[in-house]
Amino acid sequence: MVSIKSDREIELMRHAGHINYLCHKYLESKLRSGITTKEIDDLAGKFITEHGCVSSSLGYEGYPGNICISVNDEVVHGIGSNRKLKNGDIVTLDISMSYKGYHSDSAATYPIGTITKDKQDLLDHTKEALYAGLSKVKAGAKLGDISHAIETCAHRHKLGVVEELCGHGIGTELHEDPDIPNYGEEGVGLTLKKGMTFAIEPMLNLGTKHVCILDDDWTIVTEDGKPSAHFEHTVVVLDDGYEILTGE
Ligand code: MF3
Ligand code: CO
Repeated sequence: MVSIKSDREIELMRHAGHINYLCHKYLESKLRSGITTKEIDDLAGKFITEHGCVSSSLGYEGYPGNICISVNDEVVHGIGSNRKLKNGDIVTLDISMSYKGYHSDSAATYPIGTITKDKQDLLDHTKEALYAGLSKVKAGAKLGDISHAIETCAHRHKLGVVEELCGHGIGTELHEDPDIPNYGEEGVGLTLKKGMTFAIEPMLNLGTKHVCILDDDWTIVTEDGKPSAHFEHTVVVLDDGYEILTGE
């Protein structure tokens, strides 16, 4: 079932989303070569708690981190460790938290120092794909319109679209109906209604779309070892568009 949120519920999600945004800005300011991913996770945990929110990732099906931190060929669900970031890396911070039981979810991939043009293009084009998907969001549109727009943008830039992982509804649960694949057909699927809330999140690869899972049973990596990027916002459907809840 795809729920419609009341104004009160959206206000709580807007708050969870704003703290999520501030957490991104805070962690971005701490990123530098030499910091370990565990240090980033610890900073995230403190920030979330000090702002009256609760990490939605910690303990999710046993997930051990406060946020997900994925480096280079890691697509999603990387766990903070003693790995040090270095110049030329890209790192995805995927932050989910709740406020009074309402969740927000937002991811972005950041450069460490100077990165190759290939990596910069991957970042730019994955963000572009997120906004291509968002541009389709409004009451009356179809879910497939979002998926198709993301896929079309990814393919125009010759990027691999990860098929095993999807965007999703979000609200009192981190993951609600519907699944929102990053590929699909225009004009098909669920009709969007005002007050639906979605986490839209293209995960795009510089090489193959195929992924595998590491021995930690969490970290998803690209099969060919090439880099991957991930941008995600939580949004609410409006009559004539959408509002980003994980923004300023
Ligand atoms: N934030 C992820 C998403 O975008 C989910 C993280 S769940 C975890 O849906 F357990 F891996 F943290
Ligand atoms: Co998500």
